[in-house]
Amino acid sequence: MLVSPDNRDVTEEFAERYGTAQPDVALKIESNVLGGRWGANGYTTMVQADMLATQAQLDPSTRVLDVGAGRGWPGLYLATTGCEVVLVDVPLAALLTGSQRLAAEGLTRRASVAAGSVTGLPFRSASFDAVVHADVMCCLRPKITALRECLRVLRPGGVTAFFVIHLSPGVTHSQRRRAIRDGPTFVTSSHSYPEMLEAAGFTDIRETDYTASYGDTARAWGEQRERFEKELTDAIGGAAFEERQADGRAKVRAIEDGILHRALLTARRPSRD
Ligand SMILES: C[S@@+](CC[C@H](N)C(=O)[O-])C[C@H]1O[C@@H](n2cnc3c(N)ncnc32)[C@H](O)[C@@H]1O
Repeated sequence: MLVSPDNRDVTEEFAERYGTAQPDVALKIESNVLGGRWGANGYTTMVQADMLATQAQLDPSTRVLDVGAGRGWPGLYLATTGCEVVLVDVPLAALLTGSQRLAAEGLTRRASVAAGSVTGLPFRSASFDAVVHADVMCCLRPKITALRECLRVLRPGGVTAFFVIHLSPGVTHSQRRRAIRDGPTFVTSSHSYPEMLEAAGFTDIRETDYTASYGDTARAWGEQRERFEKELTDAIGGAAFEERQADGRAKVRAIEDGILHRALLTARRPSRD
């Protein structure tokens, strides 16, 4: 699997997270925060997953790739709306949970899983109508390679739509250090997402800011964990609970201080290359 050496630590960290069974209280919290119980690992609410579906122009005839799908969010939910979905990610534990869930949901004809890195996708060129991802590009590099791979597997005229956390433009050096400490591991990039999409060969590029709802969701994660403190502490231990809350508070501060942003990007593979 083509995972770049500096991305390996991140995928190993995710593998460890996905390797631990989720306690029921975690799904209860996720339902209160995001509106669904899919084992999500980010900030994409149900409403935003519907927005991804709209932007990616999904319908029952669409074949869509969910990159970095983790346990299946948002891809498996999108499959319940009628399109055909392939989930791809690196940690096998996440894919195992995803495949058990797709079987339990009766989605075996419409959804499947594949192990692979977005920097070297295990699919033929032009084999998808749409590529979506949620809070994935901020967890990996090299980003341009990943975007080029997304373009390659899209059919000409196909659409990509994704949410991503990124560094606010014009931050100071110390704010940048704070973003790296408190945000996703690879939150920084030397070019903006529209620039990188263009460099990768995409056209019709649009960016919509979702920072306000990112702040709301980040606060909601903290509030809901607090609300279920007893159950969560029993499930994961007091130290892990305190660590999650401290990480969450640092993130909320970075969002409120205007350092971390979140956006929805959409773009198209040109009809003719
Ligand atoms: C923040 S999680 C988001 C998971 C899921 N999309 C969600 O919203 O719950 C980031 C995901 O990106 C995946 N990831 C990191 N590097 C990757 C790579 N090179 N190729 C594919 N997926 C990768 C991780 O394994 C993880 O599942």
